[in-house]
Amino acid sequence: MLRTAALLSVLLLALPAHAAAPVGDPAAGAQTAKTCASCHGATGNESLDGTYPLLAGQHADYLAKALRDYRSGARSNAVMAGFAQALSDEDIDNVAAYFASQPGALHDLSRIDQR
Ligand code: HEC
Repeated sequence: MLRTAALLSVLLLALPAHAAAPVGDPAAGAQTAKTCASCHGATGNESLDGTYPLLAGQHADYLAKALRDYRSGARSNAVMAGFAQALSDEDIDNVAAYFASQPGALHDLSRIDQR
């Protein structure tokens, strides 16, 4: 019994950290995203101007963290603080899943040689 418990705890520790990442519902997030469209565009690709970040295709956990940080004040931006404070944790996970699911121009540096 003790050995089983020890083995189980080793297996649990071996699980990748992202296995516990929150998973939102993109369809529900599409509703919330309507509030964001005037600045980020309907899909997160059509930002109002060059200073407004593109959201489409960004990692959901990044988007969710950014929104929680705006909401708490850990990340300071007067505009985004107002929008983030209107969102519940569930809204944040859903809208992050929605923008993450949109095809976008964002890419990582693994393709930097192709520039
Ligand atoms: C009035 C314009 C406006 C609206 C509406 C708006 N945003 Fe933003 N958003 C911005 C600006 C400007 C920034 C950049 C702020 C900064 O420099 O931190 C930003 C940044 C963000 C970021 C951080 C992106 C990154 O790459 O770090 C996220 C995530 C985000 N917005 C999500 C949303 C969501 C979700 C909504 C709707 C609920 C929304 N925004 C509505 C203007 C807006």
